[in-house]
Amino acid sequence: MKNKIVVITGGATGIGIAIVKQLMNDNKVVSLDRSDAKITALKAACPKVESIKADVTSNTDLTNAIAHIEKLHGKIDVLINNAGKGSNFDFVNSPESKLAEDVTMEMAINYTAPILLSKKAMPLLKKSSEPIIVIISSGLAYVPMAFLGTYCASKAAIHFVTMSIRHQVAALKIRVVEVLPPVVDTDLSKDATIAKMPADKFAKIFLDKLAKGEDIMNIGQTASLEKFSRFLPKTAFKMLNKAGN
Ligand SMILES: NC(=O)c1ccc[n+]([C@@H]2O[C@H](COP(=O)([O-])OP(=O)(O)OC[C@H]3O[C@@H](n4cnc5c(N)ncnc54)[C@H](OP(=O)(O)O)[C@@H]3O)[C@@H](O)[C@H]2O)c1
Repeated sequence: MKNKIVVITGGATGIGIAIVKQLMNDNKVVSLDRSDAKITALKAACPKVESIKADVTSNTDLTNAIAHIEKLHGKIDVLINNAGKGSNFDFVNSPESKLAEDVTMEMAINYTAPILLSKKAMPLLKKSSEPIIVIISSGLAYVPMAFLGTYCASKAAIHFVTMSIRHQVAALKIRVVEVLPPVVDTDLSKDATIAKMPADKFAKIFLDKLAKGEDIMNIGQTASLEKFSRFLPKTAFKMLNKAGN
């Protein structure tokens, strides 16, 4: 990809910064992050990247970010909805207040924010000759891990809506890409004890598939998870949820 205006959420860490690093030399990359410390670190590591301070759960922040991008660049070629959060789910032992907080937070970041940011970006996407909306969901949108139950549900929700958005914007010639990562080595997966894909390898696979025109990307272990979920859903659930989870 070359000479594009790319906007990414949560570009300061993990999968986000791995994508940013592979795009920043040939494109104009704008990252939306909410933490001052992370923005400072991103600017130090990737001086070419433009940072906008924004919490993706704040309607005002998203509106201001889009207005700022319009003023500076006039259009968006690629919008990458990457920011995400997950919390451990313990239905039996968690206090109700913690469950309420976690469910609300996960849905706001993983589900509501990509829909609303994509909607706000529509006028700028329409000014691109080849507009693309990317949604980073999860392989766990196909089959839930019980101890991440509400995170998986938020990813299943955005997985379904992504199909609907793709269908509805097809006539506008806007490409909608869903990326379903396996376990990738980032802060988000720090407690996972299974094999993890390095974030830079993941970013390269994603960008190669994007260039080839793939719109549904089942990357790494997600490819077999998707097949199991369709043909052997109970087995898939058991495989992911061995005793203790
Ligand atoms: N790593 C995996 O194994 C894996 C697997 C499947 C899917 N994914 C998905 O991949 C995406 C990237 O995750 P990652 O693994 O790279 O995790 P990560 O390193 O934790 O990065 C997530 C980024 O999103 C930002 N973010 C979260 N909430 C935000 C908000 N309200 N406003 C602005 N930024 C916010 C975080 O910043 P703060 O510190 O400020 O919260 C962080 O910089 C997520 O959507 C995740 O669900 C990851």
